[in-house]
Amino acid sequence: MIVCVCNRLNEQRIGAAICGGADCADDVYARCGVRKNCGRCQETIEGLLEQNRGALAQAAE
Ligand code: FES
Repeated sequence: MIVCVCNRLNEQRIGAAICGGADCADDVYARCGVRKNCGRCQETIEGLLEQNRGALAQAAE
């Protein structure tokens, strides 16, 4: 599913950026080689980052 329409970023590319160590939406854009345009996707990207943090915290328990 396309998350960022402006940059045609799908969940897989964003997930790869997060797994690569991105810790904020701006870092996700940078790691994908794009820049934030309209910003409508930012909330969704932050949600994916939060899910990842939750999964990592759970794995550390
Ligand atoms: S939808 Fe991602 S910057 Fe516009």
